[in-house]
Amino acid sequence: MAESQRHPFLHGLSKHRGAPPTVVVIFGASGDLTARKLIPAVHNLSHDSLLPADFYLVGYGRKALLDDEFRGMAAEAIREFSRRELNPEAWGRVAAHTSYVAGGYDERPAFEKLAAHIDAIEQKLGREVQRLFYISTPPSVFAPIIINLGASGLAGKHLGTPLHSKVIIEKPFGKDLASARELNRTIRSVFAENQVYRIDHYLGKETVQDLLVQRFANAIFEPLWNRNFIDSVQITVAEEVGVGMRGGYYEQSGCLRDMIQNHTMQLLALTAMEPPGSLDAESIRDEKVKVLNAIQPLTIGPAGDVARAQYAMGMIGGKAAVGYLDEAGIAVDSNTETYAALRLSINNWRWQGVPFYLRSGKRMARRASEIAINFRRPPGTLFAGQTTRFDLAANTLSFQIQPDEGLSLILNTKVPGLETRTQPVKMSFRYATTFGSNTAEAYERLVLDAMVGDGTLFIRGDEAEASWKLCTPVLDYWRSVGRSGMDAYSAGSWGPPSADVLLAKHHHGWRQP
Ligand code: NDP
Ligand code: BG6
Repeated sequence: MAESQRHPFLHGLSKHRGAPPTVVVIFGASGDLTARKLIPAVHNLSHDSLLPADFYLVGYGRKALLDDEFRGMAAEAIREFSRRELNPEAWGRVAAHTSYVAGGYDERPAFEKLAAHIDAIEQKLGREVQRLFYISTPPSVFAPIIINLGASGLAGKHLGTPLHSKVIIEKPFGKDLASARELNRTIRSVFAENQVYRIDHYLGKETVQDLLVQRFANAIFEPLWNRNFIDSVQITVAEEVGVGMRGGYYEQSGCLRDMIQNHTMQLLALTAMEPPGSLDAESIRDEKVKVLNAIQPLTIGPAGDVARAQYAMGMIGGKAAVGYLDEAGIAVDSNTETYAALRLSINNWRWQGVPFYLRSGKRMARRASEIAINFRRPPGTLFAGQTTRFDLAANTLSFQIQPDEGLSLILNTKVPGLETRTQPVKMSFRYATTFGSNTAEAYERLVLDAMVGDGTLFIRGDEAEASWKLCTPVLDYWRSVGRSGMDAYSAGSWGPPSADVLLAKHHHGWRQP
């Protein structure tokens, strides 16, 4: 099937996509992400017969593990984290081809050992295989791994053939613009861009992909999708969880790096971009880059476009939750934000004057991610002077990314009765009701897409840089002022007062998702 006919928006997890024989090497194989997401994804792909017949899994890490030990850990991870129960047949097919190589991330001889290990797989199989390297380690070793993949000849393997090597790189992609550029330079010194798959797992979510289908497969939205009809856009990615055991990572990261720079900016890009010329990876990514580059630099400082806060103690689901500064591994005077909100302006013909509000936080009232398109208020004049109030609600179209995935529209309706009284009502569509609830997880889609060579749902290097360009001045400013301006919100609430102030400038308020 031609590349242009194979993109995920049209074909999804189709059985006909046919990944070539592949060896997937996971760097950081004993880690949390491998256990919680990657191994279950491989199991579920095997369950759905979406893996190529000749599929091999190689774990790589510094920990000394026997093949059997790694297989045992993987089976345990499936039992604990997979959306499907461990299926002995599906897992058995993978386990029979699963092995482990111990080695450091900056040791060239260990990579040569890995290369020999994969060569031996090819020899035993009697044919060549595609090599897909999944870098699931802390970011500090992304660059050494990439350099060693180059030095050991693994990166260039089968170049110029459909079996060329590929690399999936986990987030965070850098910690600011300079480090993202540096990482891109390192990657480009070893790999061509079409070998590189930068993960943002939000793009693998069904509802995020549906955003494009809703926008471009329905004729009713496009005429309204602009400054003439839309008053503001709110993008919320709220989490109920706190930092948990990830304090060490989170202290270095914070909400802006962890969630805003990547996940929420991607949601913004898909919401605001122009219609692409086609649905192939480059057309979509070109449009995303254009809109990211059209965002005006943020005004930073008091009364600027950004708010940040940390959660304080509170109640979540009837249980007491400690504040961020009392979590394990967090400095008592930490100036890492667990919440960030931004007011963005997009300087182009379509969006000039329409504020885009982004917010994300941990320990918020509940887990809820949504994109809300607030339309301009209808004129109430037609109903004025009647017997009741005519405070007509603005129409809001909201995409519920998760949980309770769906789409809803708020409309004003007449309340039955002799007097003309209006009430906003919600018209809803729920994926679970229409399609059932056991849909593929993001990582299943993304691992498969990388295997078949489809980069649509991955971040291109220039996209990552465009987003960092916007966020880096904010991070620099926050670093320079320490804790000054750090607001607080109770765990279990919808965020800090300073986030409300951001919206008040335009007489707006945050929606409760
Ligand atoms: P872990 O901290 O669990 O590390 C993964 C593995 O990397 C470890 O098992 C260890 O293996 C090795 N490792 C750990 N620390 C170091 C170090 N300082 N230097 C070199 N190697 C180290 O990470 P996660 O699995 O949580 O995350 C992996 C990647 O995925 C990260 O980039 C993270 O940002 C990203 N990610 C993680 C998510 C999650 O929920 N966990 C969610 C989204 C993204 P060994 O000692 O055997 O070498
Ligand atoms: C990850 C962040 O990228 O996304 C985590 O590092 C966050 O801090 C997670 O919890 C949220 O993902 P999801 O799919 O659960 O919304």
